[in-house]
Amino acid sequence: MATNSTDIKRIGVLTGGGDCPGLNAVIRAVTKDAIHHGIEVIGIEDGFLGLIEDRMRPLGVDDVSNILGLGGTILGSNNKTNPQMYPVGKNPDGSLKFKDLTDVCVTHLNTHGIDALVVIGGDGTMSAAKPIADRGINCIGVPKTIDNDLHGTDITFGFQTAVGVATEAIDRVHTTAASHHRVMVVELMGRNAGWLTLHAGVAGGADVILIPEIEFDLDVVCHSCVKRSQHGKRFTIVAVSEGARPKGGEQIVERVDESSPDPIRLGGIAKWLAGEIEDRTEIESRYVVLGHVQRGGTPSPGDRVLATQFGHHAMELLKQGKTNRLVVMQGGNLGDVEITSAAGRQRLVPADHPLIAAARSVYTCFGDR
Ligand code: F6P
Repeated sequence: MATNSTDIKRIGVLTGGGDCPGLNAVIRAVTKDAIHHGIEVIGIEDGFLGLIEDRMRPLGVDDVSNILGLGGTILGSNNKTNPQMYPVGKNPDGSLKFKDLTDVCVTHLNTHGIDALVVIGGDGTMSAAKPIADRGINCIGVPKTIDNDLHGTDITFGFQTAVGVATEAIDRVHTTAASHHRVMVVELMGRNAGWLTLHAGVAGGADVILIPEIEFDLDVVCHSCVKRSQHGKRFTIVAVSEGARPKGGEQIVERVDESSPDPIRLGGIAKWLAGEIEDRTEIESRYVVLGHVQRGGTPSPGDRVLATQFGHHAMELLKQGKTNRLVVMQGGNLGDVEITSAAGRQRLVPADHPLIAAARSVYTCFGDR
């Protein structure tokens, strides 16, 4: 057995935020690497909630065997818990009352002899890790999200799988759109970032791509649909981000979850847009919301590879004695940045992104001109 160059004996691993393809591949990589170097691994259930509630279990090689291609997370996750803001009832005015339970988390980590924590998640998870890191527990972050919006890394694992799923969905709606001469509006996830819609929209040959970073003009979108009909293309595929909005308009909020540190859940733009297009153009229109289908199922080969690289790099950082780093991919190279640099920040699509230029060159409409 290889030896561990630092005095780390036991690490904790948790998955926070929404589930995403590749989480298990990271858990597997971290656990196998750790055990190979004589480090014990404790799996923390349901993200930071399990840390608060002291729900943990040892992970051995057998526990992580055969999970490389498994979607979701064997540890469970939670996208509502930030130990600094744990809901503990209501204030007299009806609003939620929060308590800082960071000390509870640190006590549980110390009780279990956990020297360091590998936190696998997005910006919310990295934010939640910060106060724990500030209390002296070494936290190493691994960047996850289908939204690909984590600051500091060019790519997060889960994104490539979601692009694949969404691309296939866009491919499939082409059939109905073409056969029935309709406008088909497909709504994709991504919160305030348009990466998923941009990539799947380009890959699926969407005629109109609407992302949060570019406000759209409804007249331009409708004109694009009508123009296609006039040129013999009797259908239009619109790929729209859940966070996209018309010029001067607001994002459509599907629900507000006050118990979540990130309470806004977007959704509903496709239904609204399909109605507007049909009313204004008289072209029959339908909408599809891809929703959580984009997050589900088996990770793509690309995500399995990325997740394995990220998990290995997280362990390298721990073994080298580095503290509070976030594993990243920059310019095709694995690296790491300060874990807090990603906390609470979103990486958005720049207006001058080369993929937008490439899409425009094949006549894709972004609703702005
Ligand atoms: O961050 C991942 C994500 O899937 C977003 O794209 C989406 O807006 C959100 O999570 C949905 O959250 P929930 O699973 O709580 O509905």
